[in-house]
Order: sequence, then C-alpha cells, then structure tokens
Amino acid sequence: MNFKEEINKLKKEKNAIILAHFYQTPEIQDISDYIGDSLGLSQEAAKTNADIIVFAGVLFMAETAKILNKNKKVLLPDIEAGCSLADSCGYENLIEFKKLYPDHIVITYINCSAKVKTLSDIICTSSNAIKIVESFSKEQKIIFAPDKNLGSYINNKTGRNMVLWDGSCQVHDMLTIENVIKLKNKYPEAKIIAHPECKGQILGIADFVGSTTALLNYTTIDKSKEFIVATETGIIHQMKKNNPKKEFYVVTTDESCSCNDCPYMKINTIEKLYNCLKNEKPKIVLSDELIEKAKKPLLKMLEISK
Ligand code: 13P
Ligand code: SF4
Repeated sequence: MNFKEEINKLKKEKNAIILAHFYQTPEIQDISDYIGDSLGLSQEAAKTNADIIVFAGVLFMAETAKILNKNKKVLLPDIEAGCSLADSCGYENLIEFKKLYPDHIVITYINCSAKVKTLSDIICTSSNAIKIVESFSKEQKIIFAPDKNLGSYINNKTGRNMVLWDGSCQVHDMLTIENVIKLKNKYPEAKIIAHPECKGQILGIADFVGSTTALLNYTTIDKSKEFIVATETGIIHQMKKNNPKKEFYVVTTDESCSCNDCPYMKINTIEKLYNCLKNEKPKIVLSDELIEKAKKPLLKMLEISK
C-alpha cells in the first residue's frame, strides 16, 4: 500500500491535520502538516481548525493537544508511546513532594502527564524555560519538575536555586561527556550542540544549547560546516534537508547501537499512523474536569510565549 497517498486522501476526507515532533521517523516527518518542538506543536494545536489532530509524537504531547482542543478528536498512532521523563513524576509523588515545600510554586516541563499538569502553576518547554522562570521574581521559591538536567541548566543560567525533581530523559541522560569528546577529537572543527535534557557536563562544553527547533535553526544560521549533535537522532533528518552541504555527527554511547533513538517516539510507524487515521483510534480521552485544571498552567505558558 502507498501509505503516503492513502494518508493524504484520508486527511482531506476527514479534515485532519498531522502534527509531528522532530524525533519521529523521516517518513512520518515528511507526511506531516507541521513538524516542530514541543512549544511549536502546542501553539499549532491551539490554533488549528482541523476536526481531527493526529499527533505523531508521544502521549504527553497528544494529551496537551487534547487539553487545548476539548471538542476535537486527538489521535496517537500508538497509545504505548510514553516518555521516561513523564513517567518519572507520578501525580501522588508530586503531591507529597509539594508538601515538603509549601511556600514554593511549581513549574513543570511539558514532558509530564495531564494529571501532573493540574499540580503546576505554569508549564514550560525547553524553548521557553528560561523566559518562564524569569517571569517570576528572584525571591519566588520554585519547584522545577520533572527534568533535573534542564532544571539545573536553568539554575545556572538564571542564578536561581529552584528545587529540582529527580527525573531525566532516558535518551539524553545516557550520553556522556566522553562520548562527546571522542567525536570532538575526531572532528575538531565541528561545533557541539546539545539539548538541555543532556547532563550538565555536556551542556557546559557545548557551543550552543537549545530546544530541537533552536538546534535546527542554529545549524542553518551558523557558518560552521560540521556539527556534533547531542540529542535524539530524528532531528538529523531536518538538519540534513535544510543544510545538504553540512555534516552532522550524532553523539551515541556506542557507535554500533541506536541507543539515542527514543523507543517511545520511534514506536510510531507510518502504518500505525495510517490505521489510526482510518479507524480514528487510539483516541485521547480526558475528563472535562482534568482538561479544565490542566489547561490553566498551559494557557499561562502560551500567553507568556507569544
Ligand atoms: P523539544 O522538542 O521541545 O526540544 O523537546 C524534546 C523532547 O525531548 C521531546 O520529547
Ligand atoms: Fe521522553 Fe526523552 Fe523520549 Fe523525549 S526523548 S519522549 S523526553 S524519553
């Protein structure tokens, strides 16, 4: 079957839109209506006129799209597409944690469940995290959850002392400074660029740190011809497309493994995407009460990010 043709037909018939994250397979990225980072995707989800949103990404992203579109159908090609970072922060555990810091507000990274969002004062993504934190006074006490690497990066950049939840992304947290240095020795002219979910040591030596969109833009704007890329492999597809004459070296833990392919992102396939659009399932279902509560901190974020 020609999935591309069939998906395009179904999209028209059903007034559907496909939103994809940069960590999806090239095949999925190429059939999408919009590809972006978590902020771009939520902004796009907030303004679409489509009746159906197919979210080629992971559960917390599809939930975010549903929270912003209560009356629309939001589909996820594989409902098992979770996230180790979101899973590291349970709802009940965060309630207990908050009790230890009663005078703190809670800023949560968008990589968390819809239920955890209801415990948050405001949400942030990797592209607006510093702006969101700095929207509060220096005196404001803050709990930052669930990514400790992003949290400590923001603490360093802003001089804050946020209390950090002990969570991390299994893909980014596995990359080590030794893996990066090995590549730098091999390609001394290459610029090191890293996602803020990486460990602090890597962020400390990186020439540029940013969200997936920011990393992609940097590779296009910067004059360098070579880049050492410390993030998930999916982003390389757009980097190569935008910069066919530049070279990209992905940081891995071991050259023979595909350990920095996110197993959750890559569980989606073009066939699952086709089936999900055809059968209109798996569908994201959240109660009205949950949507109303989780929407408040998300809208606050979108307002500040305009
Ligand atoms: P961004 O695309 O927002 O940088 O997030 C990366 C990520 O880990 C998504 O799961
Ligand atoms: Fe979660 Fe990391 Fe996968 Fe992103 S790359 S979905 S943060 S496990």
